[in-house]
Amino acid sequence: MPFAFTRMNKIIGILTGDGDCPGINAVIRAVVRKSIVYGNTVIGFRKSWKGILEKDIYPLDMNAVSDLMAKGGTILGSSRTNPFKYEEGPETILKHLRELNVEALVAVGSLDTLMVAEKLFERGCPVVGIPKTIDNDLPLTDRTFGFDTAISTVTEVIDRVHSTAESHDRVIIIEVMGRYTGWIATYAGIAGGADCILIPEKPFSIDDVCKLIRRRHQRGKDFSIIVAAEGARPKEHNRFIVKTDRVDEFGHKQLGGIGNFIAQEIERLTGFETRVTILGPMQRGGAPTAFDRVLATRFGVKAADMAERGAYGKMVSLQGNDIIEVKLSDLIDKVKPVDSALYEIAEVFFG
Ligand code: F6P
Repeated sequence: MPFAFTRMNKIIGILTGDGDCPGINAVIRAVVRKSIVYGNTVIGFRKSWKGILEKDIYPLDMNAVSDLMAKGGTILGSSRTNPFKYEEGPETILKHLRELNVEALVAVGSLDTLMVAEKLFERGCPVVGIPKTIDNDLPLTDRTFGFDTAISTVTEVIDRVHSTAESHDRVIIIEVMGRYTGWIATYAGIAGGADCILIPEKPFSIDDVCKLIRRRHQRGKDFSIIVAAEGARPKEHNRFIVKTDRVDEFGHKQLGGIGNFIAQEIERLTGFETRVTILGPMQRGGAPTAFDRVLATRFGVKAADMAERGAYGKMVSLQGNDIIEVKLSDLIDKVKPVDSALYEIAEVFFG
């Protein structure tokens, strides 16, 4: 019997970073299940890059990932840890991965996590990226999982507030997430039949908003629904409205308050009664939609294939209906703005 080489199976690491969203657990499940098909072992790192810095491991086998499809959030936990803010942070990441014999790392995250992955790849980290964000603002992929669930949640809220706005002749402002882009506001606003949609890409004039509302009143519609992304801002003072000046390790401030600003200005300028709903974390919770579950599963399986092949320094991506791989280095550190043609379609229905 000739000497047979048994292939040493790989140890694959996985982490989930930045904001959580529905579908991450479906990704983890898919990475684990496909890796097991290859005979590979998967270990999770808790709280994103922090888990590698601290060797905080979460064992992932078939049982650990069963019954996860409908579970929002991430069983690994997340954080906005930036290894480049820590002395010897990148070196420690590489050292701990070597000590744990991790041959490939899957990093699930938004632009911050993926840019860290790219910089670590340049230093020799065997990493594969999976794009994730409810904001859908990542370049190089047509869609990120989490977005479909978020817009379904917001659309349901718009439908619900419609009745109370109509019953009380009120203007209701719904503030949604979207720091630098208004994908959630635009999609959910169109789906919910909003009368005005305000997004970061288009600084607005409060006078124009009031004109829209008055035009509705002139045709007997004494109520209006406005959807505003948290990063939307008035032309008059083109700056974010923030909750605190504290920043996270990637320099982001916590936004919030544009809804109240718009409501106060509308009441001051028109006398119409207003109310504000700030959806906040609700948009990131709950069970993923079927679309997000399938996209997350496809991303996870593809990433496991790439880890097996050693296709590092790349990210999985949805292009049309195909799952392809793109270079992390092509991910310029900029978000993908709302398509202006889509926003023009939304504007047809304003007022
Ligand atoms: O992940 C993107 C996002 O949901 C943004 O839309 C939002 O501004 C931010 O995360 C909120 O982050 P955190 O939950 O850390 O406050």
